[in-house]
Amino acid sequence: MRDDGGNVLYHEGTLESITERKKLEAQLRHAQKMESIGTLAGGIAHDFNNILTTIMGYCSLITMKAGEKNPLLVYVNQIMEAANRASTLTQSLLAFSRRQTVEAKPVDVNESIRGVEKLFRRIIGEDIELRTTLSRERLIVIIGDGHMGQLLMNLATNARDAMPDGGILSIKTEQVHLSGEVAKTHGGKEGAYVAIEVSDTGKGMDETTKDQIFDPFFTTKDVGKGTGLGLSIVYGIVHQNKGYIDVSSEPGKGATFTIYLPLAEPVSTEDIPREKAGLRGGNEVILVAEDNAQVREIVATTLRDFGYTVVEAFDGEDAIEKFRANGGAIDLLLLDLIMPRKNGKETYVELQKTRPDIRVLLMSGYTGDILSSKGISREGIPMITKPVAVEKLLRQIREILDNKPSQLSLFP
Ligand SMILES: Nc1ncnc2c1ncn2[C@@H]1O[C@H](COP(=O)(O)OP(=O)(O)OP(=O)(O)O)[C@@H](O)[C@H]1O
Ligand SMILES: [Mg+2]
Repeated sequence: MRDDGGNVLYHEGTLESITERKKLEAQLRHAQKMESIGTLAGGIAHDFNNILTTIMGYCSLITMKAGEKNPLLVYVNQIMEAANRASTLTQSLLAFSRRQTVEAKPVDVNESIRGVEKLFRRIIGEDIELRTTLSRERLIVIIGDGHMGQLLMNLATNARDAMPDGGILSIKTEQVHLSGEVAKTHGGKEGAYVAIEVSDTGKGMDETTKDQIFDPFFTTKDVGKGTGLGLSIVYGIVHQNKGYIDVSSEPGKGATFTIYLPLAEPVSTEDIPREKAGLRGGNEVILVAEDNAQVREIVATTLRDFGYTVVEAFDGEDAIEKFRANGGAIDLLLLDLIMPRKNGKETYVELQKTRPDIRVLLMSGYTGDILSSKGISREGIPMITKPVAVEKLLRQIREILDNKPSQLSLFP
């Protein structure tokens, strides 16, 4: 405004804070970037899976036609093993790009967390303290089978890795309301959400790292230590279930990951699968044969945690030796399908000769081997797919042990 002489009296205008808008724009850009990486990764993984199916299919054919004593089988087994590893990788990529089809069901978030608490204490070690603060009300979300466990597991292992000298890992849950504006930038709707906060007191990260953590294969870990898929999978799962994830961190000040998942309409208690009931352990003796030391360790640790006595073997031949050494003590065989020297099925057939009623569960990284989602192989042997979800493994083992000794034979 000016006076009659043209001198400025005061200025008029509106002042708008653009920091918030800039932040929202950045979030939107990030979401779009993740969307296109997802499409790319999913496309590759899908085609790749088909190629792997061919490779594995022909390997099986060679194995069948070559005859048991053929020295070339060793090479075929190597190819099969490599293809198996590639398959695990593509499964992870599919999880990231949300192309994995899993059945979604109501899950009580607090109950899931309580269910994995014991296992987490083992994974994070003694130097890290685990603190859980769970909301008093029931928090129900609709989420894919096994997804909740995988989210928690991936975040917890990262937290552990960020605290090599110990610290505190906290898991918190609460119900929150998200306004339309906030939810919209993440492609979601206004409404009630369940917030799951996983924070650590570890080394934290800078802005540049933070911008890339959800990208597939981004890792700051040494070669062989991390594949950089953990958080990509978390991102994929969260978005597949119509939620989103926030991270706040500064170098040296730890990191906090917050997952928001839409709160489901209240359902009757009967509709919620009782995770606890599924997480029953036992005191039977289980022989675990698996050539991958990491997988073997986590499986054995889990089973021991739930009361089982575990005998470990590093391949098929070793499994047979350990079985014999333990006399009649073994109640169940948990066998990896693809192993050097003797594969899971061969090992089972061999041991069945001494104990026709021995119970078995095969682990396979190759879904093509499984007839249906029922977890039965073509030959009628109970089977579980890798990566093995803890809840599922425990449930399936209990089911097999509680059933009458199987009369199933491999070659009817
Ligand atoms: N809690 C955390 N504190 C500090 N940095 C983290 C944390 N979580 C993740 N990061 C960073 O994000 C990167 C990517 O994590 P992500 O879980 O995707 O892969 P990774 O842990 O490196 O490997 P993988 O999970 O496949 O074994 C990590 O390498 C690390 O630099
Ligand atoms: Mg990780």
